[in-house]
Amino acid sequence: MLVLGLETSCDETAVGIVSNGGGQRILANIVASQLEEHRPYGGVVPEIAARAHLDYIDDLLRQALDVAGIQLKDLSGIAATCGPGLIGGVMVGAMMGKAIAAVRNLPFMAVNHLEAHALTARLSNDVAFPYLLLLVSGGHCQLLLVRGVGDYRRLGTTIDDAVGECFDKSAKLLGLGYPGGPMLEHAARQGDAKAFPLPRPMLGREGCDFSFSGLKTAVRQLVAAHPDLAPAFTADAAASLQAAIADILYDRTRNALQILSDENQKVTALVVAGGVAANLAIRTKLTELTASHHLSFIAPPMELCTDNGVMVAWAGLERLKLGLTDGLDFASRPRWPLDETIIPSPSRGGLGRGA
Ligand code: KG4
Ligand code: ZN
Repeated sequence: MLVLGLETSCDETAVGIVSNGGGQRILANIVASQLEEHRPYGGVVPEIAARAHLDYIDDLLRQALDVAGIQLKDLSGIAATCGPGLIGGVMVGAMMGKAIAAVRNLPFMAVNHLEAHALTARLSNDVAFPYLLLLVSGGHCQLLLVRGVGDYRRLGTTIDDAVGECFDKSAKLLGLGYPGGPMLEHAARQGDAKAFPLPRPMLGREGCDFSFSGLKTAVRQLVAAHPDLAPAFTADAAASLQAAIADILYDRTRNALQILSDENQKVTALVVAGGVAANLAIRTKLTELTASHHLSFIAPPMELCTDNGVMVAWAGLERLKLGLTDGLDFASRPRWPLDETIIPSPSRGGLGRGA
């Protein structure tokens, strides 16, 4: 089985091709980042993103087929992210996927971007269901029990900002540039994590929800008191913020494990996904947590943690195997929670990317 996946829901245009045969499963993983297009604005501009996806996607598709050494006629199905995300961009990939499926008469799989992140560890590490997933990216911060393909229970989510947003906005305040997460981690290496006692919202509270907006406000106040942004200050602030975020993620994930254990719900592993999973301080903290619970800690390779087409192709392949295909009239969705039983939090309004 060979499936092609298209990802255009944020600022990466990506095409992946995967196979479920023995041996090499990833046949192509082509990603074009739009970092330079958005850098002058210090964040992703939806209209610019949508236009850039249109400009890049034809060429990326050709490259992916070349790298995989296949033609469209060799494919078993086409998958495209159909939400949640910036809808102008989502529609570029969804329309292209549907067009190929129509012309080649192939099954089409409308993939939920969060499901693509959620199932990646099954491609990279063969993780068995059920597992606990901590999804930490620029648009999301969620704890999910992954019970099967299309079968998710959300244990917690952010009630305000996503964790990557907190990294990015704080990095901007600290003058560290864009994208903020990696720059902030780099600056933190020279700093003292105990220099500034930043708040840890939700720490010690019941449940598994997250909150980051108070932390961002605290960084703003810290910067106001140190307007010259001396390198030593910036490094200390970055280290203090990173430690606060790692503590929050640790505490919330520990609660999720406790809830599952109280319910006698076994899990095979803790899996992390999303761009923030690249952060070493966070990985270290979560490794401590899983070690104390005698649980495996699984982080897919970095190139599969950040947005890519392979994860979409893989989610499509898992769905195709189960006969879960979609009609070409599937409407793309800017918001699309994985756990459909959840009532959206009013504080996230219509602005979130699907949490
Ligand atoms: O998963 P991703 O590539 O795209 C989204 O779906 O959002 O995640 C991007 C986010 C950004 O907020 C970026 O700053 C953050 O992941 N990030 C990091 C690191 N690398 C990327 N945050 C903290 N430390 C890092 N090393
Ligand atoms: Zn993502």
